[in-house]
Amino acid sequence: MKKRKTILDIRKMKGDGQKISVLTAYDYPLARILDEAGIDLILVGDSVATVVSGYDTTLPVTLDEMIYHTRAVVRGSQQALVVADLPFLSYQVDLRDARLSAGRLIKEGGAQAVKLEGGENVAETIAAITAMDIPVMGHIGLTPQSIHRMGGYRVQGRREEQAQQLLADARAVEAAGAFALVLEGIPRYLAREITHAVSIPTIGIGAGVYCDGQVLVIHDILGLCEKYSPKFVKKYADVSTVIREGVDAYIRDVKEGVFPTAEHSFD
Ligand code: KIV
Repeated sequence: MKKRKTILDIRKMKGDGQKISVLTAYDYPLARILDEAGIDLILVGDSVATVVSGYDTTLPVTLDEMIYHTRAVVRGSQQALVVADLPFLSYQVDLRDARLSAGRLIKEGGAQAVKLEGGENVAETIAAITAMDIPVMGHIGLTPQSIHRMGGYRVQGRREEQAQQLLADARAVEAAGAFALVLEGIPRYLAREITHAVSIPTIGIGAGVYCDGQVLVIHDILGLCEKYSPKFVKKYADVSTVIREGVDAYIRDVKEGVFPTAEHSFD
């Protein structure tokens, strides 16, 4: 049994100048592959709503669904730190809800930490959850749960006052006790400034090369999500084509009576 990474290992990586690798996963088989490959941290993202369930936004996924996916990822992994997303409406209404939701992801899901979106506006929530000894990862910039306020998935922090707000948000998230911070969809020089301004590791997605680590959605890098591919994604495989070819061959074999053969049958 391998030793699972902890938030202390992840924090130390920033001090040691080691880049942190993060990918999302939502199920047992992919979690196993990522874990065996040596990924540092697996994020059970609420992006499961879009890339697995086919919704247009992350808003519909429920806490119970996140717990279900988190359990599968925890069962499939041994060495990676598993962080689970708090979905929309599971932490915004009041602190009691937030603490209960975070606690359920740890107790029922088996995650080692939770992630939530927002800056100064959620600092009190981060402090309340960390006060229960539940590690929290912050997430600022393009925060998909705020899609209706942002008017779409748009790069954030291009205007000076927005950039200053994001810097203040990053400092607030760190002061509230978060152990790491996702920076999504912001200009790379702003990401560099934030990365220097905080002592916790920054994990970028669409935030350039100066972050302490990088996260991408697994379906995007494997070419499993053909609907939409953002500029910041690098595609490392074309799994859709592999699946399509496999399924085509299966259908052909069944139609032509080539499968099953005696080898696949019982006497
Ligand atoms: O839900 C998710 O996958 C995320 C990452 C994109 C950071 O929050």
